Amino acid sequence: MKKNTRSENNEKLNNVNPNFNENKETLKNNSTNNTNNSNTGNREPAPVSPVSNSPGPNASNSSSDSSRPGCSDTSNPCSNSSSSRSSKASSSSSENSSSDSTGPLCPPGSSAVSLDKMTVNIPGQAYPIYFTSGYLSRCGDLLRQHLPETRKVFIISDDNVFPLYGSQLIASLEEHGFTVSSGTIRPGEASKTLETAAGFFDELIEQHFERNSVIISLGGGVVGDLAGFVAATYMRGIKFVQVPTSLLAQVDSSIGGKVAVNHPRGKNIIGAFHQPELVFIDVATLSTLAEREFITGMGEIIKHGVGFNYDYLKFLQQNAAEIQQQNPDLLLQMIYGSCNIKRKIVEEDEKEKGPRARLNLGHSVAHALETLTDYTHLTHGEAVAIGLVQEARLAEKLELISSDLVQEIITTLQQYSLPVELPSGASGDKIPARDILTAMASDKKSFQGKVSLALPSDPGECQIIRDWQEEDLLQILSS
Ligand SMILES: NC(=O)c1ccc[n+]([C@@H]2O[C@H](COP(=O)([O-])OP(=O)(O)OC[C@H]3O[C@@H](n4cnc5c(N)ncnc54)[C@H](O)[C@@H]3O)[C@@H](O)[C@H]2O)c1
Ligand SMILES: [Zn+2]
Repeated sequence: MKKNTRSENNEKLNNVNPNFNENKETLKNNSTNNTNNSNTGNREPAPVSPVSNSPGPNASNSSSDSSRPGCSDTSNPCSNSSSSRSSKASSSSSENSSSDSTGPLCPPGSSAVSLDKMTVNIPGQAYPIYFTSGYLSRCGDLLRQHLPETRKVFIISDDNVFPLYGSQLIASLEEHGFTVSSGTIRPGEASKTLETAAGFFDELIEQHFERNSVIISLGGGVVGDLAGFVAATYMRGIKFVQVPTSLLAQVDSSIGGKVAVNHPRGKNIIGAFHQPELVFIDVATLSTLAEREFITGMGEIIKHGVGFNYDYLKFLQQNAAEIQQQNPDLLLQMIYGSCNIKRKIVEEDEKEKGPRARLNLGHSVAHALETLTDYTHLTHGEAVAIGLVQEARLAEKLELISSDLVQEIITTLQQYSLPVELPSGASGDKIPARDILTAMASDKKSFQGKVSLALPSDPGECQIIRDWQEEDLLQILSS
């Protein structure tokens, strides 16, 4: 762990925005992004501009959310009545297409975007997810509202993300009376270890962090899982806030409370369930994410469409080009849609005792491929994409879905440049199908060697299937 800035700030809390309410707040987009991009592999941060606290044109319109694919509750991820975007998303949603009469949501190039909220209703531990584009500077305000008693926060980040967004986050926290310390890790999965966590424990003890202190993760899923693990275990659990900056972290790992570090003998073996106090998603941070990391997040997002909401899958198909160009309006809709899908499943089954296992759609084959290629060949989302296709083919064989749906899944993945065919092993040869099945059986999600598979069962639906034949999958993986 590398220690970073440490600062004291005893300023009184005089800057809490009273307009920020449960549903949404529309702000002028004018905060300053104060960062230098020292990360060679990534892109320059998108310019953003300063914040004005005046409510936007559509601040009270919280009912148009139902026009959005993947969104069935009544809060609005992003509403802005000021332009004329014709939403392919809404036209693809048959149940909702008539209700998008307010017009566009956060049009590209708009001077205003909304900051909106979704609540994850886990009994006794409900927490909000805030969505914005370009308002990282609002994080301190929100944290202060949610954690009025807290003084000390510790930011855990990595060496790519902290130079880009660390100082903006620190300034926003200090402005609201938090005393901020921070530490960074070397980017990547190899840092997600007990040793790294121990370095943070030393630091927290040295700085007298106590039960009321907060740990904030600023980064991708690696940082989120590690920081969450530190928060879950330090003093038997302290408060935790997620500020996810990779697409995968924004739609997946920051929601649901699974936190973990790796053991040399297995990924995520040492962990806990520890729900955050708050998740703050600024989609503008994705502008600096390397393209391949963006695509890997799309693997999980397409999984959400395939297994949980067919309208959402259609939305992804119809808006593929603009999503890849990071149109902020569409990014917000997409990320809100995915979070909404994950929220519902997590609410149903927080500890993965039943229905949450459906989120493993595509993952049984994906984990096997990641293991067999030593986690070097494929990103996680790429492995999930291939897993989705192979598992969809098995579902077709079991007559759960049609060949047309299999083809539709393949086409959607290809629209986002995700791989759909099995990769080669280290020797350059195709990975033997038998090896994939063996690796699947040793996955921690198998029970007595028998793998339960989440398989697509209808457009936008999936089921846990125990009753499948190895020979069928062998044949598919060998063909
Ligand atoms: N807890 C869960 O429920 C859950 C779910 C899925 C995955 N995960 C975990 O998430 C991890 C993968 O997450 P990931 O894909 O985000 O990997 P990651 O955290 O390694 O991030 C990917 C890369 O992008 C960089 N990065 C992140 N945000 C950036 C930004 N805005 N600008 C520039 N660079 C940025 C990181 O520094 C890193 O190099 C794995 O460890 C996986 O086990 C956890
Ligand atoms: Zn995954």
